[in-house]
Amino acid sequence: MKFFVDTADTADIRELAATGLLDGVTTNPTLIHKSGRKFMEVVEEICGIVDGPVSAEVVALDHETMMKEAEILRKIADNVCIKVPLTIDGLKTCKALTDDGTLVNVTLCFSANQALLAAKAGASFISPFVGRHDDNGFDGLKLIEDIRLIYDNYQFDTEILAASLRHPIHVLECAKIGADVITAPPAVIKMLSKHVLTDKGLEGFAADWAKTGQTIL
Ligand code: E4P
Repeated sequence: MKFFVDTADTADIRELAATGLLDGVTTNPTLIHKSGRKFMEVVEEICGIVDGPVSAEVVALDHETMMKEAEILRKIADNVCIKVPLTIDGLKTCKALTDDGTLVNVTLCFSANQALLAAKAGASFISPFVGRHDDNGFDGLKLIEDIRLIYDNYQFDTEILAASLRHPIHVLECAKIGADVITAPPAVIKMLSKHVLTDKGLEGFAADWAKTGQTIL
């Protein structure tokens, strides 16, 4: 399973990239706003930090303008992945861009039928929003399960990028279901390494090692 981080904070991206565990980055207009930086400039910096796909989202709602925005965004770097919304215009844009060899992430997916359309439009990634689905009284993980089943039924190449993940259990369940990629905030990714018994065990080992009076170096 690939790990993407969902942020436009380059300090956090650098820290995670240094672990060697980061496969890509997703951004959206809200995350760009949070960064307080210029969109093009921050995307260019992120593309230089990670080798994997970096999602940069169009903001237009019509196909023609989405294509013009995508044209500008894809010139930033080879690893830019154009993010388009799950609308008819977004799907049309997805088809045109992927036919041309551009990576496309179709975002704001809240139903398996929407995911089916994205796969038919040749999307590189489909982003079902698990947390926001849960927030609205639906079952976000069931959505991932349904999409997995449909994509496997027809051997679609589109990768399921489970998004809007809020905690480590979301990540665990997505891994069990077989999501191809997860994207999560830096704090959630860091939390995956934590366990109270790991900390307790380390404390015990450190105390006993000190009693031996030895050093390794
Ligand atoms: C995915 O690409 C989105 O940027 C993201 O996962 C949205 O998450 P949120 O619901 O926490 O805003």
